[in-house]
Amino acid sequence: MSKQIWKPGNMLYPLPAVMVSAAGKDGEANIITVAWTGTICSDPAMLYISVRPERYSYHMIRETGEFVVNLTTEKLARAADWCGVRSGRDVDKWKEMRLSKGKAEELAYAPVIKESPVNIECRVTEVKELGTHHMFMAEVAAVQADDRYMDKNGKFELNTTGLLAYSHGEYLALGRKVGRFGWSVKKKV
Ligand SMILES: Cc1cc2nc3c(=O)[nH]c(=O)nc-3n(C[C@H](O)[C@H](O)[C@H](O)COP(=O)(O)O)c2cc1C
Repeated sequence: MSKQIWKPGNMLYPLPAVMVSAAGKDGEANIITVAWTGTICSDPAMLYISVRPERYSYHMIRETGEFVVNLTTEKLARAADWCGVRSGRDVDKWKEMRLSKGKAEELAYAPVIKESPVNIECRVTEVKELGTHHMFMAEVAAVQADDRYMDKNGKFELNTTGLLAYSHGEYLALGRKVGRFGWSVKKKV
């Protein structure tokens, strides 16, 4: 087996492509697609997003210290891509993509995207100015989960929503289950 050696940064490994909604103190709201994101702590529940300072959304997040991570699905793939190649400086992404603003439970400024099955409301705790991207570490203040994906026992069926991943420049819908947490060490009966 041989492997190529690539420069660091050449690899776009699989990550979720989420739509982050934010608003300035003047009330103007925007959406930015973000793939540089992930969970960083369970308790307190925390995640990060990394955003370039030149993005229109950047100053909204910096100003209010708030944003919402809206999970995307196959149905939202076109909107996620579009919101990632157009700037709120020039267009109203809500109007163009027919997305609706919903009220956050805990945040004062940032709205949620109603069409997304899960809205994770976040409050920034720290900004790390890393280089091209600034990393916003944030605590999760509330989560809104769409009732439609709740089964009759009250379990949230996240994996039936057709979650979207961004891998090596392409969008993929997550689907085929290959195992569950801990199955590799479970005794067979
Ligand atoms: C799939 C995808 C992932 C992206 N991930 C990021 C990211 O993690 N951080 C970032 O700053 N920009 C990212 N972008 C680029 C921004 O979404 C894009 O520049 C957008 O137009 C910025 O919008 P705004 O100027 O309205 O804030 C991504 C774009 C796409 C299509």
